[in-house]
Amino acid sequence: VQSERESLFIVNNFARDYFQNILKNHVDGRSIGMAYFRNRGFRDDIIEKFQLGYCTDSHDAFAQEAIQKGYKKEYLVKTGLCYETDDHRLRDRFWGRVIFPVHTLSGKVVAFGGRVLASATKGVKVKYVNSPESDIYHKSNELYGIYFAKQAIVKQDRCFLVEGYTDVISMHQSGIENVVASSGTALTPGQIRMIHRFTNNMTVLYDGDAAGIKASIRGIDMLLEEGMNVKVCLLPDGDDPDSFARKHNSTEFQAFISEHETDFIRFKTNLLLEDAGRDPIKRAELIGNLVQSISVIPEAIVRDVYIKECAQLLHIEDKLLVSEVAKRRETQA
Ligand code: CTP
Ligand code: MN
Ligand code: MN
Ligand code: MN
Ligand code: MN
Repeated sequence: VQSERESLFIVNNFARDYFQNILKNHVDGRSIGMAYFRNRGFRDDIIEKFQLGYCTDSHDAFAQEAIQKGYKKEYLVKTGLCYETDDHRLRDRFWGRVIFPVHTLSGKVVAFGGRVLASATKGVKVKYVNSPESDIYHKSNELYGIYFAKQAIVKQDRCFLVEGYTDVISMHQSGIENVVASSGTALTPGQIRMIHRFTNNMTVLYDGDAAGIKASIRGIDMLLEEGMNVKVCLLPDGDDPDSFARKHNSTEFQAFISEHETDFIRFKTNLLLEDAGRDPIKRAELIGNLVQSISVIPEAIVRDVYIKECAQLLHIEDKLLVSEVAKRRETQA
């Protein structure tokens, strides 16, 4: 007998194949969905590799096909591919959207992201709709792109972390395959442990506008806690990894990263320093904040290196930071 989880995977596989087929062979799929991806510069081999698809804007074309093929309504709803209206009609969640399947580490499709088409972004529809949580999909335990990235992460002994689906895809297309996306949310411990299985080294690629930087900093302390080496690279203003990858080849992209990546603690120190200026209260807060980041690092030698460096940047005595970090570690123990 099939377990319920197996049934959900089977339904997702059917949906993935269906959306891919629509994209490649249906008249709307070709003229709308495929045109959208081509417009963004996605190559055919990349569209194929990431199993991208399209869901037509009929509100129930997928639902009808699935029911007709014998897939149970229950599973169509549990996977979130469809939802039931108040008058018990089955509707497609992803109608009128291009589709990004989300794969587990082992390549199973657990969820989908659907993006509105460029022309519709100004309207009321939200840009991305994602599958809801289910028995097979716990968003906080998955990382977009990990299935396609894991070998390259091991080989390069580094993982790039980006925000979104298209960032992962464009970097792959330009030849940088050791990249995963947190899909717009803060990293979770489960996601960090998954990356840590393959490498100790992580570089976070932030958008140039840097809007989300401060919000993300808290998440990065978790990477330090795991004993990972974390670097941060800011892209030029207005660029995200997707747009940057389309303007530069992989050699240029890699060169930009090596030139601009900063160690996370140094990055954080400078960022907070800029923010605090000469305000003594803000400077004290800043020190507390850095002490917190440094105190979670498991390796004493690494802590020591950071203490020396931060003391220098802050123009304070090493001794002061040493004792603050020690105090903080005691309260954590
Ligand atoms: N995201 C989401 N829901 C939204 C907005 C964003 O789930 N309403 C997630 C998606 O995984 C998205 C990521 O957050 O890929 C980053 O969001 P954003 O930077 O807005 O989108 P991009 O990936 O840059 O997409 P595009 O280039 O197509 O605008
Ligand atoms: Mn390690
Ligand atoms: Mn963004
Ligand atoms: Mn983006
Ligand atoms: Mn983008």
